[in-house]
Amino acid sequence: MILNSSFHLPVLLPEVIKALNIIKGNIYIDATLGGGGHSEEIIKNGGNVLAIDKDQGAINFVKSAWRNNTRLRTVEGNFKDITNIAQKNGLQNVDGILFDLGLSSFQIDGSGRGFSYLRDERLDMRMSMEDKVDAEDIINKYSIEQLYEIFSKYSEEINSRAIASAIISARRIKINIKRTKDIVGIVESVLNKIYLRLPNRDYNQIRNSTLSRIFQAIRIEVNSELSNLEIGIKQAINLLKSNGRLVVISYHSLEDRIIKLTFEHYQSRGVISTLSKKPIRPKYDEIISNPRSRSAKLRFIRKI
Ligand SMILES: C[S@@+](CC[C@H](N)C(=O)[O-])C[C@H]1O[C@@H](n2cnc3c(N)ncnc32)[C@H](O)[C@@H]1O
Repeated sequence: MILNSSFHLPVLLPEVIKALNIIKGNIYIDATLGGGGHSEEIIKNGGNVLAIDKDQGAINFVKSAWRNNTRLRTVEGNFKDITNIAQKNGLQNVDGILFDLGLSSFQIDGSGRGFSYLRDERLDMRMSMEDKVDAEDIINKYSIEQLYEIFSKYSEEINSRAIASAIISARRIKINIKRTKDIVGIVESVLNKIYLRLPNRDYNQIRNSTLSRIFQAIRIEVNSELSNLEIGIKQAINLLKSNGRLVVISYHSLEDRIIKLTFEHYQSRGVISTLSKKPIRPKYDEIISNPRSRSAKLRFIRKI
């Protein structure tokens, strides 16, 4: 079964398969199923896969494409519960685990959940519809200090204070902040004042990078992405058999830092051996054919 790549193109595919060291008949967990491209390749190489995703849309998509493939089992769940999910599915130890973080192309372009500043959609940004808090709640209920903290911590945005303050001012005069275009308007109102004299091209560059960082920060907060990652990869290390592999692909520096520090911690205690001294990056050809791969960094370890 070849999955439809319009849902999501798997990143660093040959590199993932090599890093996982797939052996026929062994068991692997794909902690971030998405469009199923990595799972499909693991199965083609002889592995059996337990695949997890928070997003029911991803699970439904892959299930309908794969129809009862006996070597793939899918679970809707959060990878921060990976130990429980494995146990419930009869697995105590596994041969390899993959985390391919972030969002699928379908979530960004086709889910209608407001993940991108390029589309006017409702401010939702939840990967799982089971989660209670969405982006609209955060933007309308957080204090100025809380907003400042998420913007400065998760986007490292230099105008975080001014953007947080502009959101609070908009709330005071009862402007409804319900849609992505409302956030775009507020961020633009801040940038217009600061970068008034810049030529258009430079202004647009600053506008776009600020918006993508602010949207990223809100999304990280809505989905508790960094705490889930830390919990998930620690549990994953415990779940591995001796010689099992853990492969993690991240897309921004905050994620990569957590992965690097967690690997260093376990390596210093003799639990794992880091096999990627430096992160593996996509080659030029992959970045050209799939621009979303450009920020990917793959790190992998072997359990001792
Ligand atoms: C980049 S996509 C994975 C793409 C996939 N490897 C492929 O080849 O199609 C990331 C996926 O991870 C899921 N995800 C993100 N955080 C998660 C979490 N804490 N638990 C489970 N799934 C998560 C997202 O819903 C999304 O479908």
